[in-house]
Order: sequence, then structure tokens, then C-alpha cells
Amino acid sequence: CGIFAYLGKKEAQPILLDGLKRLEYRGYDSSGIAIADGKRIEVIKKKGRIADLVQLIGPRQFHGRLGISHTRWATHGIPSDENAHPHFDQSQCLSLVHNGVIENYQLLKQRLLNFGHKFQSETDTEVLAHLIGYYYEQEKIDDPYQRLIHALKRSLKEISGTYGIALIHSDVPNLLLGARRGSPLVLGIGNDEFFLSSDVTAICPYAHRVVYLNDGDLVAITLDTFDIQSLNQSLNKSNNGFEIRDVDQLEMTASLKGFPHYMLKEIYDQPEAIRNAFRGRLIHEEATAKLGGLNMSPQELLRIERIQIIGCGSARHAGIVGEYLIESLAHIPAEVEFSSEFRYKNSPLDRHTVVFAVSQSGETADTLAAVKEAKRKGLKVLGICNRVGSSIARETEGGVFMHAGPEIAVAATKSFSSQVLIFSLLALLLGRLRYLSAREGHEIVEAIEALPDQVAEVIKLDSQVKELARKYVQSRRFLLFGRQFQYGVALEGALKIKEISYCCAEGNPSAELKHGIIALIDKSTPSIFLCPKDGVYDKNISNMEEIKARGGPIIAIATENDDQVAKIADEVLYIPKAPEYLTPLLTIIPLQLFAYHLAIFLGRDVDKPRNLAKSVTVE
Ligand code: G6P
Repeated sequence: CGIFAYLGKKEAQPILLDGLKRLEYRGYDSSGIAIADGKRIEVIKKKGRIADLVQLIGPRQFHGRLGISHTRWATHGIPSDENAHPHFDQSQCLSLVHNGVIENYQLLKQRLLNFGHKFQSETDTEVLAHLIGYYYEQEKIDDPYQRLIHALKRSLKEISGTYGIALIHSDVPNLLLGARRGSPLVLGIGNDEFFLSSDVTAICPYAHRVVYLNDGDLVAITLDTFDIQSLNQSLNKSNNGFEIRDVDQLEMTASLKGFPHYMLKEIYDQPEAIRNAFRGRLIHEEATAKLGGLNMSPQELLRIERIQIIGCGSARHAGIVGEYLIESLAHIPAEVEFSSEFRYKNSPLDRHTVVFAVSQSGETADTLAAVKEAKRKGLKVLGICNRVGSSIARETEGGVFMHAGPEIAVAATKSFSSQVLIFSLLALLLGRLRYLSAREGHEIVEAIEALPDQVAEVIKLDSQVKELARKYVQSRRFLLFGRQFQYGVALEGALKIKEISYCCAEGNPSAELKHGIIALIDKSTPSIFLCPKDGVYDKNISNMEEIKARGGPIIAIATENDDQVAKIADEVLYIPKAPEYLTPLLTIIPLQLFAYHLAIFLGRDVDKPRNLAKSVTVE
């Protein structure tokens, strides 16, 4: 979900709607705005896209210089006009938007129902609005400003769960309140104006100075100043004040640049994203990588005995490729776990384990919670994030920033490549401290540096891939196979197809074919095989023969000049030769393009696929 709020000297309505459009990739099943005109609050909200809200508003102008807005990704309650945010309290004087989940909302709702409250929606958010409104009525403080802050603090103490909120009250028309716990919130400081948003990219066009609020922070914003207090000083000892930062300029360059969709632009961004991921991090003289952000000495790095990687979705898939990289180049046992499983699993991890949390957004709730759990267990936790200033980046002791630039399309593309590249740097660094010779180190450094050009070469397959997608558009299920370094790529390729074309797609280690999947093979179920010339090439060839023998069409992604594959597969896409541990960065490209074109032919909304959100900030 996305939050965007404004207080300043300009009319709020156009600014809120513009902010919402920038946030739409965070969730888009309904949206709404609330504007305070000094006397009352006008709320207008609608199921569907922001465009539907804009249409509903039509030529109407709601005057007011204070407002909040929200774009929703449903958790409690179906997407509907009623369940859309903002929500009112009982008096209809207080309006609130919320990201996160209030876990004890049923209990609180029952209590408020007993007091005679009436609810318009099924959401947990409306319960929170009512609770704050209730305490506001109860408080015996004359000054409405203080009274509202007291009511908010009292309510936040009573709720369990996560929240990022923004709220306004018609009694205090120049006050915008925000608070966060487990869900991001950023304050933007402009000239005579302030912004609150769950996402810094929405603030960038308006304000270049921001404060990333910490968990447990409450911010009170008035026309000329703001005040940040911590609600849980005891828990949040590091929060001795706040830091005003300049917004990363990179965040501001997310435009389509002539591409029809962000996803396609971001696929084409990959040579640059990869270059940015290794820029300044390769040391030729020492044939190794330098990752200063880890904040670890060579001695500390040598003490690592095990690596635990956690992530969700594409980030986890990058972690799977990372596992193979680390084990084969650095000989350190590595394991990958879904963040959501890790956080509840009682894995016996010894103290020489280092946890790597992989997350493009740095805000995924499951990963953030897993990070906190690992920290609680006393483990060292490092991040691989794209968003500087994000919750996971701040919660970890150090890590590696991706510098991939903003990724707007919901389906991850360049962030996956960037994460894999970072794992190769990490494997090189750890390997050179252990088993890799200088000669081997040099080969790896050179192979990494050759990647951007090779990726650009593979992107040239675009039109060929498009024709393939056209040919197979009727097949509504796809099987993807890969072994070893290609296994994570098969999973990621399948996820791309699922996410944006809504076709069934399954990624598997090739040899699993005979353990069940082969039952799915028929002439309308294409198998996509990742079979570059690597250590398991012959094994893949055998698996392809097994499929061919059963009449299944085969699309192969193979190394240039490989004639053998062409004799078995129906279609072959050729990629340049690279060491097998870096080949995932090449083989993933045709899969991303295939998913993209398939989705276009099927008329899907590529950048904003149904039911998904770019970053899921609820558990
Ligand atoms: C969501 C997105 C996925 C993404 C995953 C992890 O589920 O829809 O595309 O891979 O979150 O996101 P993160 O920001 O943590 O990398």
C-alpha cells in the first residue's frame, strides 16, 4: 500500500493525486484522498486504479492545504469503495490512512461497538481511526493539538501489529500527524511545505530533504515546523533524534525514457545496473572484490563458517544463485530460506553464521521481521538492498547497496541481476580469503567486467523472443528446467511468467522431471530448458531427450555455437559464453523478455499485474 500526505501553502488535491500516481506500483486495488478545508474534511475514495478515482473526482476542486491519501493493496476486507482509505472516526472529524495490519482489531472493534460505534467498512484501519477518535473525545485536555497527540499515543499503545499512518482532524486544521511501526514512513521537507509518504520516490519531485522515520516514531507537522518523538525510547535506544538527508538523485530518474513499459525499460537497464553493482568494487591488483559496506575486517570475514540467505520472491531466487556462487567459489556452506519461514523456524544457527537479507525495496515485512529475529538471536545480519535509507538497510549492521536505480515495474528484473552480481562479488571476496588463487581471482574479475556487454548482446534477442512468445501464446502452462547455477534462474523465469502473464509456470531442477513432472508433458506444454555449456550440460541434454520422446515442445537457451541442442530443441536462443557461475546473468534475460512479450500478447497490465504489489509491507 502507499501513503502520501501534504501540508503547506498550496492546494493539496493535485499534489495528492500526483503523489498517488507515483505510489500506484505499491498497490492499486482502491485509492482515496481526504482534504481538510479548515472546517471539515472531505473524503473521496474509489475501488480500482487511481485513474478511477480521478474520474470520480472529475472537474471538482476540493479546497484545502492539508490532506492525506492512500493507494491500497487489500489485506482485511475485499477491495471496495467502503474498504478504501482514508477512513473516518465515529465523529467524522478525524481521517486516517494506514499501511500494515492491526492484529487485535477484532477485539478493539467489539469494544467500540459496545460503546455504540458504527463502522462503514470491514477494515482494521477504520477501527484504529475510531479508537483514536474515541480517546480524543475522552481526553480532558483543552488544546486540541495536545489532545489529538495524546489520543494517538494512547491508541498506539493499545494496538498490536504493524502500522505506518497519517492522520488529520478538522479541529486542528494545520496539523498533520504520522507514526510508524514495522511499516515505512518518510517525512519530506520542502519550502514552506511538508510531505509524509511510505515511499521516498513519491516525495522526490517536491522535496529534496527527507527524514526516514524510525520504528516507534511519531511526527507532528505544522505549517512551519515538525516534531519527532519516539514512543518506545526503551526499545529504540538508537533513536536519539533524527537525521535530515538529501534524497538520492538516482531516485529521481525513474522515467520511461521512451519505453512502452517500465518492465521493458528495466530489462534494458540491466547492463547499466550490473555495471553500477560492481563499479569501484573490483580490485585488479589484488584480484578480489572490495565491499566496504559490510563493515567487516578480513579477520572477521575469515571467521564466517556459514551463510544464511533470506528473502522473498525474486530476491530469494537471486539468493539461490548466490548459494551456488558462495559454495563453489568460497567453499562456505550457504543456505537459502524464505524470510517468512525463517522467522518462525527455530533453525539451529551457530554464532559464526552471517545472515544476508536480500530485498530490493528494503521494506518487505517478512524479510524485515526475519532480520529482527536473526538479530535477536545475536547473529550478524547484513543487507543486500537497493533502497538506501530503507528499513532493512537501516536495521542491518552493514551490507551491499545495489545502486540499480529505481525499479518501478512490479515484476523484478534488474534488481534480480544486481543481487546475483553482488553475490558473485561476495563469493569472490570470501573465496580469495580462502581457496582462490590470484590467477583464479583475476579470471573472475575479468569475467565480471565483461558482463555488461554480454548482457547487452543477449538483450538483442528481444525481437526473436517476441516471435517465440507469439508462437506459444496459446500455451497457458510452461515448465522451466535448470540445474545448479541455472536452477534459481528457472524459478525466477517461472515467477516472471506467472506474475505478469497469469499463465501457470513452474521452475524445477531438470532431474526432477522424472520424479513426477514428466506426467505434465504433452504437445501443448512447452518446456523451457536452461542448458548452457556447463558442468551439467550432458545431463540436461538427456532430460531434453526425455521430453522430446514424449512429444513436448522444447525451447532451449544455450551457449553460442552449440549445434547439439539445435538437433533436439524446437527453438534455441543463443547466449555468449561465460563462466558457468556468471551465466545466470545471461540466461535470465530471454526469460524476462519472454514473460514480457507473452503478457503483452495476452493483453495484461505488465507494470501493474493484478493482485500484486511491488513491495509487500504486511506479513
Ligand atoms: C513482492 C513482489 C516481488 C518481489 C518480492 C520481494 O512479492 O511482488 O516481485 O520479488 O516482493 O521484494 P523485495 O523488495 O524484498 O526484494
